[in-house]
Amino acid sequence: MSTELAFKPRILGMICNWCTYGGADLAGVSRFQYPPYIRLIRVMCSGRVELEHILRAFSNGQDGVFIGGCHLNDCHYNTEGNYDAISMVLLGKKILEHIGINPERLRLEWVSAGEGTRFASIMNEFSLKIENFGPLGKSEGIEPKVLKAKLEAVTSLVPYIKLVEMERLRVRFKSDEEYHEFFTSDEFNRLFNEAIGEKLAISQIITLLREGAFTTGEIATVLGLTPSEVSRHLNSSLRQGFVRYEESRKCFALA
Ligand code: FES
Repeated sequence: MSTELAFKPRILGMICNWCTYGGADLAGVSRFQYPPYIRLIRVMCSGRVELEHILRAFSNGQDGVFIGGCHLNDCHYNTEGNYDAISMVLLGKKILEHIGINPERLRLEWVSAGEGTRFASIMNEFSLKIENFGPLGKSEGIEPKVLKAKLEAVTSLVPYIKLVEMERLRVRFKSDEEYHEFFTSDEFNRLFNEAIGEKLAISQIITLLREGAFTTGEIATVLGLTPSEVSRHLNSSLRQGFVRYEESRKCFALA
């Protein structure tokens, strides 16, 4: 059997105690089959899953992350955490996409305690998809070292991203569709680029420069950014004293 076929993805599921966990339990007692390499963690509500948990899971080598909660309007808490989960997952997908990771490696679904068949079928479908993608970073063409640096760069920005989310992206819609509409709108893209995208690019550049000195072109190639974008960020970082230019080697390094 080739290594390609032998690939068994590592998938982490963070599922709500009151609904999806019940669905997983029912799938188990009903002997519905799904891959054994999916590890499940029980959380009290899908709204308790933070962006940091997702990033940490990917940093620790998971190839896919699944979040399961109660159907909308069935959350067991007054705060209706599953609406927060949609917002966080859609923002998380946008961030993954921004750093070059396939956003489909992150998935959110609603599964009730009586939906054992649905749980097993989602797990089978998701794991097959991740299996086809291959190991994290492979289908994206990102080297493990660069992948680690990218995830590290985003993780260091999580407190700031949460602040932006609370201040500028905190919206409460009444349906999945409305959330998807907002998170794919021009307005959201503008807000994202303005408030998060720029910081993400700078953070990735600074994290990469911790490894050594690089030219603008090298940084652009490694991070998948355009040279003009890298140049703009380097110039502002130069002005702020975060980086320095090494004239002799014609490259940038941390100050
Ligand atoms: Fe299940 Fe909130 S309790 S999603």
